[in-house]
Amino acid sequence: MAKFYVNPKVKKSKINKEIYGHFSEHLGRCIYEGLYVGEDSSIPNVNGMRTDVVEALKAIHIPVLRWPGGCFADEYHWMDGIGPKETRKKMINTHWGGVVEDNSFGTHEFMELCRQLGCEPYVNANLGSGTVREMSEWVEYMTFGGLSPMSELRKENGHEEPWTLKYLGVGNENWGCGGNMTPEFYANEYRRYQTYCRVYDPEKPLFKIACGPNVDDYAWTEGVMKVAHDYMDGLSLHYYVHPFGWQNKGPATGFDQYNWFSTMKKALYMDTLVTRHSKIMDRYDPEQRIALIVDEWGAWYDVEPGTNQGFLYKQNTMRDALVGSVTLDILHKHSDRVRMANIAQMVNVLQAVILTEGEKMIKTPTYHVFDLYQNHQDATLVESSIESKEITCQDLAIPNLHESASVSDDGTLNLSLSNLSVEEAEEIEVVLSDASYETISARILTNDMNAHNTFDAPETVQPEEFTALERTSTGIKFTLSACSVLQITMK
Ligand code: AHR
Repeated sequence: MAKFYVNPKVKKSKINKEIYGHFSEHLGRCIYEGLYVGEDSSIPNVNGMRTDVVEALKAIHIPVLRWPGGCFADEYHWMDGIGPKETRKKMINTHWGGVVEDNSFGTHEFMELCRQLGCEPYVNANLGSGTVREMSEWVEYMTFGGLSPMSELRKENGHEEPWTLKYLGVGNENWGCGGNMTPEFYANEYRRYQTYCRVYDPEKPLFKIACGPNVDDYAWTEGVMKVAHDYMDGLSLHYYVHPFGWQNKGPATGFDQYNWFSTMKKALYMDTLVTRHSKIMDRYDPEQRIALIVDEWGAWYDVEPGTNQGFLYKQNTMRDALVGSVTLDILHKHSDRVRMANIAQMVNVLQAVILTEGEKMIKTPTYHVFDLYQNHQDATLVESSIESKEITCQDLAIPNLHESASVSDDGTLNLSLSNLSVEEAEEIEVVLSDASYETISARILTNDMNAHNTFDAPETVQPEEFTALERTSTGIKFTLSACSVLQITMK
């Protein structure tokens, strides 16, 4: 019997709801087809945004959406995406699949999507191939209400009032696709660009996010923090789970247990990364004013056979669900420093929560984890730990259990528990410091490791009510099935 100790009285950091953020890039069928079909589409839509997808996303309360990239961000010139659609520039999306980008989805459309989703926009601006003026004017176009050339232009394009833009990214992956810069060069560029991104309404400050490291590039974190820490509110971190490395990602479905173990091990590595980058940040920012923003994370496998390599379209199984639950648990535990995260990507790309095919739409196992975990949004992390045991596959070892716990403002206790073993169920006893909860409810997502939803069988992987819980004098006990994610709510 594994004991899961929870002490709701020991409150830690707030789990910012923005940790449940998403990322949408002009890549493959994420924006076009996945989110935006245009007003004239036969697929039901509101102002061009597909209704089925927007409704599904609203149900999991998306708090923030990052756009337009990704690598696309540092090639994106925002003025190409405003004004009458017929006159917008058509170009080739050289980075992603070599397809025509007609710029029919631009600033106005993105803000409209965020309005429909009820989420904060997070605009990632172009530092790599843009100019200081271009970035400055974009901020002016979006956020200035007074008399100015950009404000007038916005009004001419049909939007009288400025939008509220809280989050601004100043470049993306500038160590790579965003200009191949050194940390020192980028940090100086960052200081210059952000200077001209003005705050036009003191009530609505801009939260400026600098480009942070790739995976374990601690020298980048050190270099950028050293030169630019006084000028940023957040530093990004990008980390993708590739089961066997960048060159050998393996298939999204039909994988074996060794692959499962390797994927889980890589997902668990997020803890090391966040710990070590945070330590470097602590030296320059001991008060933890600057947030670590994990604005690209998720599993990255081979694309589905027969699809455009540049579209990064892949299926999503129970393995992705567990990558999701483990990652969210880790981010909860680091919520003193991690205040936003954005899964890559929202629809039809990498670890998507939604997949579409024509007018059809399915929710992936990852979607269901975001659903099960919703109560953690804006709750407070509390002290918890679990007696896990090591399980192995050949040379790989991982813990069999993973957890996190939080308390919502109304006192509800939220417990999350994952069983990483694909073979063995586990007896669990939750030991609470105070077991006087009146109601207990739980939902579970469980299936074979390769199970996934398809357009013909969209409900193969679905959460179910979990009632096999037994009260004990100190809490509850139950059996947690293999390959599962359980969410318990106690009031
Ligand atoms: O999410 C796909 C790509 O991964 C993004 O464009 C880039 O920032 C990262 O390398």
